Amino acid sequence: MARIETTVEKLRQRAREEILSASDQDALEEARVAYLGRRGKIRELLGNISELPENERPKAGQLLNELKNELAHLHEKRAAELREGAGEAAGEAALDVTLPGRPAHLGKRHPVTRTINEITDIFARMGFCAVYGPEVETVHNNFECLNMPLDHPSRDAFDTFFIRGRPDLVLRSHTSPVQIRAMQRQEPPLRVVVPGRTYRPDTVDATHSFMFNQVEGLAVDEDISMADLKYCLDRFAKAYYGGRAETRFRPHYFPFTEPSAEMDVSCIFCDGRGCRVCGGTGWVEVLGCGMVHPNVFRSVGYDPEKYTGFAFGMGVERLCMLKHQIEDMRLFYENDVRFLSQF
Ligand code: DAH
Repeated sequence: MARIETTVEKLRQRAREEILSASDQDALEEARVAYLGRRGKIRELLGNISELPENERPKAGQLLNELKNELAHLHEKRAAELREGAGEAAGEAALDVTLPGRPAHLGKRHPVTRTINEITDIFARMGFCAVYGPEVETVHNNFECLNMPLDHPSRDAFDTFFIRGRPDLVLRSHTSPVQIRAMQRQEPPLRVVVPGRTYRPDTVDATHSFMFNQVEGLAVDEDISMADLKYCLDRFAKAYYGGRAETRFRPHYFPFTEPSAEMDVSCIFCDGRGCRVCGGTGWVEVLGCGMVHPNVFRSVGYDPEKYTGFAFGMGVERLCMLKHQIEDMRLFYENDVRFLSQF
């Protein structure tokens, strides 16, 4: 009896020592195989029980089974400790504080937004305040107040999206109706620019889109003349395209202005000598303008005998394309960062 107890106790101490001191998974596995394995010490002793005197056998079996459970438990604990230690060591290796940081990608403003900001900044320096109006507009503001009655053929040029079930509403076909809203809100003197989206049922191609942006302008006061218009828009062209840009005004027709003109800017790519961008003419058309028609003043209750004013309207995408030699308008709307990150 005493003999088997001593044997088990010795075995217990050796096994505990080896398991607890195992410094890695391999050493631990070795200890497990040696004591708990199919050919390990405990199995061996269990196998030899039949050689013991009959009265000692149950006790020996009990002791060995207890030892087996104790060692299995201890093994599990040590294995977990080693796994955790390995994890920590790996964690330390993965965190290298000397590596350079990952660059944070900075976003930018969209080229259309940038162009709008450039334009409004230039006019802000000449005393124009930016105002905004709704994209769903009344037919009254979009057409009638702008001297375009229902049956007027000039409406055809401003082909329009109507709102289903609301014949009195449209998606505005230009930013000009915001002139009306601005004048209804305040008395002259008045200088406003109006950036914003406009809509026309055009087939999409390199130079057309069903949605595009405009910047409208309006100045009203006593004694405003065509000379003021020309000076103001020439200053704008030089500020936007660079000091060398020349301007010329060609007579044109718009229902809401009289007289009306289109302004051309000398081509910035060939200095007016003629190239592919300007189609060989040396000039590119950039905006429409004119002296506010008396009927427009009447529609908002301004006295056309007392006040005069000029107005203008330009396409934002077009201006941006001309400045940066962008050949396809669709690039603005595709959200391709390879294009957008160039600005
Ligand atoms: N609304 C015109 C268009 O969309 C542009 C325009 C021309 C606006 C002359 C004006 C103007 O204010 O005076 O084509």
